Amino acid sequence: MAEISVKAYAKLNLTLDILRQRPDGYHDLCMVMQSVSLHDRVQIRQTDSKSIVLHSGMEYLPCDQGNLAWKAAEAFFAATGMENPGLEITIDKKIPVCAGMAGGSSDAAAVLRGLRKLYAPDMPIETLCRIGEAVGSDVPYCVFGGTALAEGRGEQLTRLSPMPRCYVVLCKPPFPVSTPELFGCVHSKKLLCHPDTKGMITCLETKDLPGILRRIYNVFEDVLPEKYNEVFRIKSRMLDLGALSACMTGSGPTVFGLYTDRKKAEQAVWELKKEYEQTFFAEMISVEEYV
Ligand code: C5P
Repeated sequence: MAEISVKAYAKLNLTLDILRQRPDGYHDLCMVMQSVSLHDRVQIRQTDSKSIVLHSGMEYLPCDQGNLAWKAAEAFFAATGMENPGLEITIDKKIPVCAGMAGGSSDAAAVLRGLRKLYAPDMPIETLCRIGEAVGSDVPYCVFGGTALAEGRGEQLTRLSPMPRCYVVLCKPPFPVSTPELFGCVHSKKLLCHPDTKGMITCLETKDLPGILRRIYNVFEDVLPEKYNEVFRIKSRMLDLGALSACMTGSGPTVFGLYTDRKKAEQAVWELKKEYEQTFFAEMISVEEYV
């Protein structure tokens, strides 16, 4: 029976800009995205049951149609016209949930990538991204991987020059942030600052790491309700611990810090872990490593 194991990498937003609200209720975004080595492991095993069985080992995650990984499998078979032979999907979760790192979307993308390898190896990656669009706004990027510009709802993807190697510290405070809630906050406060996305793209092209670090920016930080102020506390702690730049990723609340000195990054993980259990060391993942 066919079987495959796929790494579902977490993502960071090097920039996140919100351009406008759309008539369909979504927002047009402009984001520079980056894959990092923190990952879930998604195992797909063909069975002959003609149905999907999903295990995640997490009580609070749905194991049915409510799970994006399940939706992705259904979307794959619907789009290809193939009959579902029966699948057992097992997700070994390492990426924190509701954390701004696209954990659920990445699991869904890993299912799509795995099913393509098993059943449609000639399918262009762009087609797989289109299948992911209906599953969630971040799914196409999680299929694409590496360093990329994501526009529109997040589904219009352009490959960018790879982010220079550096080390990442990820730290999630012990509360979730609701993405729709945070998009709602954008309407009550006017966004006064926006990231220099064009400048960021140029700095990636010229491998200008100081320029990249200066341009890391997420507009969600500017509308973050006061109850989530711990995010800013973690940012300053990271900077005190030698980060060259620190920022919230996605709709948060995870903060990432970037380091060129591996020892300093490891030391920061060790220090932050005393207060925040969900602290991780990671590295950049390029599209070539994104298998
Ligand atoms: O597409 P997805 O289900 O991941 O989006 C979750 C929620 O985030 C949406 O219901 C919407 O409230 C918000 N969203 C948005 N604009 C986007 C992406 C997400 O408003 N481009």
